[in-house]
Amino acid sequence: MEHFITLDDITDLYKIVDLAASLKQDPFAFEKQGKRKTLGLLFFNPSLRTRLSTQKAAQNLGFNTMVMNFSNEAWALEFEDGTEMRGIRSEHIREAAAVVSQYCDFVAIRAFASLTDKEQDEAEVVLRSFAKYASIPVINMESATAHPLQALADALTLKEHHLKPKQKVVLTWAPHPKALPHAVANSFIRMMRQQDAEFVITHPEGYELNPEITRGIPIEYDQKKALEGADFVYTKNWCSYTQYGEVLRTDAEWMLNTEKMQHSNNAKFMHCLPIRRNIVAADGVLDSPNSLVIEQANNRTYAAQAVLKSFLDHA
Ligand code: CP
Repeated sequence: MEHFITLDDITDLYKIVDLAASLKQDPFAFEKQGKRKTLGLLFFNPSLRTRLSTQKAAQNLGFNTMVMNFSNEAWALEFEDGTEMRGIRSEHIREAAAVVSQYCDFVAIRAFASLTDKEQDEAEVVLRSFAKYASIPVINMESATAHPLQALADALTLKEHHLKPKQKVVLTWAPHPKALPHAVANSFIRMMRQQDAEFVITHPEGYELNPEITRGIPIEYDQKKALEGADFVYTKNWCSYTQYGEVLRTDAEWMLNTEKMQHSNNAKFMHCLPIRRNIVAADGVLDSPNSLVIEQANNRTYAAQAVLKSFLDHA
C-alpha cells in the first residue's frame, strides 16, 4: 500500500479488520514497532474522534505524533501550477508536501469537500496533491469524497456484533440543517459492497449519491419500508449530489425515532458522530442499548492502528 486514500487501497478488507480486532485485544503488543517514527496529522477541518483516535493508535505503536491545524496555523496553500502567487496563498503544495516529508515518516490529512465545486472535490485536490509531492505515505482522515478510517471502524463494529450472512443493513439519510459531505456514506457503501449482507440505501428523492458509488445497490425511497426487518441501521445526512452542496429539506419526517426502529428486527443503531440529537436521530434511539455509536468511536483507534501497522509491516 503506497497511500491509504480510499478503501480501494486495501487489498483485503477482512484481513485488516481482523488485524484491528486483534490489536483491540492487545493494543500494546507492537508498542515498539513505530519507535523513532513520526506521524504528522494535518487538519484542514475540525475533528474530535479522528484527531484523538489516530494519535492514540500511533502512540500504541510507539510513534511520535505531530498535530497541526493547517487551516489557521499554516501558510495558506496554493495547489495550481504555474500561477503567479500574488494572492493570499503564500506556500505552494510542492514545497509544503516536500517539507512535511522531511519531518515525518507518514502524514495523515483531513480535508473536507468544499461542496461548491463538485469537479474539484471529486479530484481530491488536497489529498492527491500531497500524495503527488510528498515522499512519504499519505493517510486519509476524511477527504472530500471518502472516510475510509471510519468505514474500517464500522466494519469492525459490524464484525463484533456478528453481522451474519444475508442480514439486512440499511443506510438511511437523515435531516440536518447544514450541508454535509458524502464522504462517510461513500466509504460505508464501499465497505458494505464487501460484506455478505442484504444492503439497502434509503433517502428522499433528490438525495441520490454519486451513481458510480451506488451502482447496483437497491435504493428505497420509502424509509419505513426500507427499515422493515433491518438488523443494522446506519444513519447519516448528506447534501444533494445532483444539486451539488444544496440542502433540499430539513423537516423531521426522515429523523430516526424509536417508532421507526420498531419496524426493524430490533436493529442496532449506527452513526459516525458527531450527531445532532433530535434532528438526525431522537434521544430514544441514541440512548437505547441498541446504539453502537460509542463502540464505533472506540473502534476508530484500532482501525487506524491496523492501517499504521500495515504500513510498518511493509516498510
Ligand atoms: N466520525 C468522525 O470522523 O468524527 P470527527 O469528525 O470528530 O473526527
